[in-house]
Amino acid sequence: MKIITPEYILTPTELKKGLSVAFDQHIKAIDTLENLRRQFPQAEQISCETNSLLMPGLINAHVHLEFSANKTSLHYGDFVPWLHSVIEHRDDLMDSCDTACMQQAVAMMLDSGITTFGAVSSHGLDLEVAANAPQNVVFFNELIGSQANMADALFNDFLARLDASKVVARQGFYPAVAIHSPYSVHPILIKKALQLARNESLRLSAHFMESHSERTWLDSSEGAFKAFFQTLLQQSHALCSANEFLELFRNTPALMTHVVHADACELEQLSKDHHTVIHCPVSNRLLGGGTLDLNALEAHRVDWITATDGLSSNYTLNLFEEMKAALFLHADAALLPLANRLLESVTINAAKALHLNSGAIALGKDADMLLLQLDEAPSEQIALHLILQRYNVNAIFIHGTKVK
Ligand code: BEZ
Ligand code: FE2
Repeated sequence: MKIITPEYILTPTELKKGLSVAFDQHIKAIDTLENLRRQFPQAEQISCETNSLLMPGLINAHVHLEFSANKTSLHYGDFVPWLHSVIEHRDDLMDSCDTACMQQAVAMMLDSGITTFGAVSSHGLDLEVAANAPQNVVFFNELIGSQANMADALFNDFLARLDASKVVARQGFYPAVAIHSPYSVHPILIKKALQLARNESLRLSAHFMESHSERTWLDSSEGAFKAFFQTLLQQSHALCSANEFLELFRNTPALMTHVVHADACELEQLSKDHHTVIHCPVSNRLLGGGTLDLNALEAHRVDWITATDGLSSNYTLNLFEEMKAALFLHADAALLPLANRLLESVTINAAKALHLNSGAIALGKDADMLLLQLDEAPSEQIALHLILQRYNVNAIFIHGTKVK
C-alpha cells in the first residue's frame, strides 16, 4: 500500500485540496493524510512538491502503431488522395516500422501521460510491442476487405490475429475487434465478426463517416471513391449504405471513429445503440474531413471521446496536444466548458466507452494516475490551463506501479 499526498487532486470533474490517496493496484481510500496513516500504518508514503496535482492517466482510444514510421510520406489534405498514398507507401512504411519504431510511439504516449491506449492493428505486427507496453492496451484486431471472393481468407487471417492476441495473458491487455469501415468490409464479414464480438463480449470499434467521399460513395456510389474502387477493386457500387452498416451494429455498442459526416438520422441511431464517437480532430483536419459537430452530437445525446489516431494522420501521439487542437478547432464553443469536456473525454468518458475501471481518482478505480507539477495554485479554469500549458509529468502510476 502507498499513500500519496499531492497538493491538489483533479478527479477530473472536481478539484480537491488537502487530501491524500491510499492505493495498491486500486485506489483504496481518499482522505486526510492523518486518517490514511491511521488506517494504513504500514503504507509507503510519497510526498509531493508544492503545486503538485494528481489526476487520472489519459486514455487514447484510437491509434495505429503499425503506421508509426510516417512523418512526411503520406499525402495530406483530402481523404482519397491520402488513401492512395497509404497504398503506395504501405510496404515501405511497414518495413521501416520495426519494433524500435513502435516502441518509440508507445514511449511518446507514456511521456505525455497516456496510461491506456486502443491499438487498431491491421496486420498484428504491433502485437508484441503492445503486449510488452507498460500501458493498458485494448488491442483492436482489424478486419478489412470488400471483395466477396477473398472473404474466407480474410476472415481466417483476422481470426488468427485475434487468437494470437488472446494468448497475451497479462493484466490490462484486452483483445478486441475493429471493423475497418462501411466501405471497405464486406457485410458478410461484418456480420461474422460482430457475431463473434457479441458471443465473446469483445470490445468493438469501426471507422464511420470520416470523409465527404465516404458519404457520397455510401449514398450514391459516386464521388472520389468511384475511380478508386473501379480501378483498384473492380467495384462499381458501395457494398452497403450507412444505414445498413449501422443496422448491423444494432444493440452492439461500439466505438465509432470520426463520424464527421453523419446525418441527423445516423446520429439518432448512434445514440439509440449507445455507440461512442471517437473524435480525432487533428487527423480530420489533415485528411480534409472537416470538423466534427460536437453540438449536433450533444443534441442527439451521443457520447464522444477524443483520441489522436495514428502517426499516419497526426504529427504526435500526445493527447494534451490533441485537446489543444480541439480547443482551437471548435472556435465557437464556450471555452471552459469545452476544456472540461475534452479532459473528461480522455479520462472518465474514455474509460466508460472502453469498459475500463479507470479514468478517475475515485474509490475503487484502478490506480492509473499522473502527478503533474503546476506553476502555481490552480483556479477553477484548471482544465483549460492543463491543455494550454505543458506541465511536467513528474510521476506516472499504472495499476499502482510507478512507471515513470
Ligand atoms: C479493401 O480491402 O477492400 C479496401 C481497403 C481500403 C479501402 C477500401 C477497400
Ligand atoms: Fe484510424
